Amino acid sequence: MTLDTHSLRCTECGRGIAGGEVASDFRCRHCRGLFEVIYPWSMAPGNAGNNSGTASSGSVTGAETARLPNPSALRWLWQERRTSTMSIDQSGVWRFRDLLPIVKNFDSVVTLREGNTPLYEMPKCGKIAGIDWLLAKHQGMNPTGSFKDTGMTAAISVAAERGFEWVACASTGNTSAAMAAYAARAGLRSIVFIPEGKIAWGKLSQSMDYGALTIQLKTDFDGCVKILTELVKKFPIYLLNSVNPYRLEGQKTPAFEMVEQLEWQVPEHVLVPGGNLANGAALGKGFAEMKHLGLISRVPKISVVQASGANPLYRAMQDSNGDRLEPVVAETRASAIRIGSPASWKKTVETLRTTGGWVEEATEQEIALAKAEIGAEGIGCEPASAVTLAGLKKLVTQGKITREERVVILLTGHTLKDSDYTIHYHRGELLTAVELAGATAEDRSNHAALLKPPVVLEADMDVVLRELETRMHSAMVAQPV
Ligand code: F0G
Repeated sequence: MTLDTHSLRCTECGRGIAGGEVASDFRCRHCRGLFEVIYPWSMAPGNAGNNSGTASSGSVTGAETARLPNPSALRWLWQERRTSTMSIDQSGVWRFRDLLPIVKNFDSVVTLREGNTPLYEMPKCGKIAGIDWLLAKHQGMNPTGSFKDTGMTAAISVAAERGFEWVACASTGNTSAAMAAYAARAGLRSIVFIPEGKIAWGKLSQSMDYGALTIQLKTDFDGCVKILTELVKKFPIYLLNSVNPYRLEGQKTPAFEMVEQLEWQVPEHVLVPGGNLANGAALGKGFAEMKHLGLISRVPKISVVQASGANPLYRAMQDSNGDRLEPVVAETRASAIRIGSPASWKKTVETLRTTGGWVEEATEQEIALAKAEIGAEGIGCEPASAVTLAGLKKLVTQGKITREERVVILLTGHTLKDSDYTIHYHRGELLTAVELAGATAEDRSNHAALLKPPVVLEADMDVVLRELETRMHSAMVAQPV
């Protein structure tokens, strides 16, 4: 093995390989496990991000003790880069490049100035959930409108440096949008496999706009993954699904950004939506590395929320405490997380175990309500992101999160990704009578208060004035004194 800036370690059997030796499906040749990227300063296996372990050092070769980067110097450097005009410094991913040296030459990274996303205060949603301090890290404010950009800048930079001409992914829509954009910037050709009729139009339009070869397969996401996994074994196509560990190196950086935005304070709890189950693990790696390097003194609990119709991890935790996962046939309107056989479930189980987080599920009705509540706070997000607020409410009710705990929810996609969903909701056409009947009386009245259907009027001043008078009057009556 050559001494490199990094190597790959199988998260199941622990075997290490050089980055360039990885198989085209990113599975370990010995045990089919998934890899993670390690560095000369990485922590030893089994010490990943729990709150009791002490810092220990491993190395790329495992032969020598590596010097840990200095935390104060890193904090200063990352802050300094914020004022730089260099594109690499303006990226909220590559600004932290000292902790993701996955390319040999940083001058050639492919960036759209991703990251640098806002951390919003959410007082109304916090109150609804029953906690005092709620923030939302809005990853939908990335260049293509989802958190996937932070991973894609990393993995496409590796693909370009390694000389690939073609890249591909299977996707529920956001990965494909991000991949198509970054591939176009890098001058690479991209192929997208999406389940026909099962992704939001906004996302489909993006992959076409960015010039990808877009293939709609008559199957679901899990069926698309199967086809693509076979394809990459036959052709020199670089696989960009989240089994690619370089994606997760980019996706760990919002953890850095979040605590930097909190002046290096660590929240008690971070909630993420769960689909293919890579993102929670990526953030967990980010927090674990910061703790290992002394940038923070503890890690937050990381909890995952799934849609009830696509909840294999939730079931796995209930049935076997995460030892076994049975795939499910997934069905949810939160199409981004309509995934029944998640590739990275073992990584996420490990994150839950080491951080002490929970798994929750949210029904269609609960997701729709939470999305409307996030929208009404002036923030907005796509349906899959709203599971975090829906799950938070449940974890608070169950006493697993207490009122005083500081919580950050990850909003993973922009509200405009799936505007059909929002329009149907506000027209009262989204939820079925059965779904609404299953809601609590309180939820039903909350829906009724939130619905804002558009009003169609004649273009006549008197008609408009009469309508406004009625509405203003009823708004005043409804206003608490
Ligand atoms: N939120 C959004 C908006 C997503 O697009 C996804 C996944 C997730 C959450 C779940 O993240 O898979 O790491 O657990 N979307 C993928 C895609 C599968 O193809 O765009 P995960």
